[in-house]
Amino acid sequence: MNFKYNSNFSIDNLSLKAKENSIYALTGNNGSGKTTLLRLLVGLLKPKSGSIKIFNETLTRDKNQLWKLRQKIGFLFQNPDDQLFAPTIEEDVGFGARNLGLEENEVIKRVDWALKAVDLIEYKKYSPYDLSWGQKKRAALAGLLVLKPKLLILDEPFANLDFNSIYNHLIILETLRKEENMTILFTTHNLFFVENWADKMMVLKNGSVLFEGKPSIGLEDPSVLDLLGSYEELLKVIKKKK
Ligand SMILES: Nc1ncnc2c1ncn2[C@@H]1O[C@H](COP(=O)(O)OP(=O)(O)OP(=O)(O)O)[C@@H](O)[C@H]1O
Ligand SMILES: [Mg+2]
Repeated sequence: MNFKYNSNFSIDNLSLKAKENSIYALTGNNGSGKTTLLRLLVGLLKPKSGSIKIFNETLTRDKNQLWKLRQKIGFLFQNPDDQLFAPTIEEDVGFGARNLGLEENEVIKRVDWALKAVDLIEYKKYSPYDLSWGQKKRAALAGLLVLKPKLLILDEPFANLDFNSIYNHLIILETLRKEENMTILFTTHNLFFVENWADKMMVLKNGSVLFEGKPSIGLEDPSVLDLLGSYEELLKVIKKKK
């Protein structure tokens, strides 16, 4: 698959395969194309050439196909302000489920369950504007969880979240993964999650794949380490200050 914006940035000859029920981490420096790649996968952008297959179906621009696929895919935007739009959190979290035509009782049950899972139940009557950034990100995730998607595509799900929120999210994601056989594709700059949570990783550099494979191998690769940096390098700078 190939893609180009009206700028110099392009993605060339990229192919990504994630196994069902696995966790796939996408990392790489700022501007390397992670968000662009996720937007291509969910049909928000269209490849210049080549094709994208999801659940063995080639993505077309057909609205019906996109609608059907979106029922199986949850996409968490990097910026929650791009995701939340309803007047209250509970309406926002229930939007996707109502749109799918689920029974109102079932929607209410799932919204309460998802808001409890992300620890926002007391905020259900709030406007998204009155939430902190991390709370908005948690509300956006709750809106996806109610749909119990087969594939969850998460752009920086743990960035700017406090430790307890990350803990809660991991519990709920792992539970759903087991119960619903869910596959998770996520981007991150935090190598802790790549090393300890992901089954497979891809490292992007300027729209190209620098590495794809097992994290235990990728995180030992000198070119990957050179691109992603390490705390040791930071320590050298900090220690110089003293
Ligand atoms: N709408 C756009 N039009 C033109 N260029 C764009 C557009 N959106 C992104 N880009 C460019 O594409 C490149 C990749 O951006 P992208 O947001 O995919 O990077 P990223 O890997 O997600 O970065 P980050 O780690 O900061 O989230 C960047 O150079 C960016 O400037
Ligand atoms: Mg990004």
